[in-house]
Amino acid sequence: MSEAGAGGVAHRGDDERSPEHGGDAPIGTVYEAVGGQAFFDDLVERFYRRVAMDPLLRPLYPDDLTGPKRHLALFLGQYWGGPTTYSDERGHPRLRMRHAPFVIGEPERDAWLRHMGAALDSLVVERGLHPVVEARLLDYFGMTADAMVNAR
Ligand code: HEM
Repeated sequence: MSEAGAGGVAHRGDDERSPEHGGDAPIGTVYEAVGGQAFFDDLVERFYRRVAMDPLLRPLYPDDLTGPKRHLALFLGQYWGGPTTYSDERGHPRLRMRHAPFVIGEPERDAWLRHMGAALDSLVVERGLHPVVEARLLDYFGMTADAMVNAR
């Protein structure tokens, strides 16, 4: 997968106005559908609560998780159609490059996805997130996590 595909900020245009329906049913961005940045903040908080207890993943992250939380939450908000705060603060995502210092094999990928899946699941239950939105998020996480694998 290309850098842009994995870490792309290319989803500014991800504003689906279904042409099949004459444009009368704007769906909007995922960012809007989930209610904005607060959703991603909450998702990431729940995700890192799990990472913090994971003996495989925890050592990869710095002691203080404040920075990683902020970066991931802002990245996701930007990716799904929110403001570009992530890139304003961090520059181009270049996710594969930023993950290169960490040894990420299939076990790490699977653990990451398991925690993100559980975090998302808890929000789906609490907030009644639309299944289509949930499926898009899960697809994206699966695809991107595959792209981060840099070791076997
Ligand atoms: C496949 C397993 C993955 C592992 C083991 C992993 C691990 C890490 C680690 C250790 C960091 C550094 C934290 C820090 O020092 O700030 C990081 C940063 C980050 N990760 Fe991952 N990650 C994985 C997958 C993903 C995926 C799938 C995404 C996106 C959907 C993602 C998005 C990010 C972002 C946005 C950052 C912050 C980049 C920055 O410095 O601005 N990661 N990740």
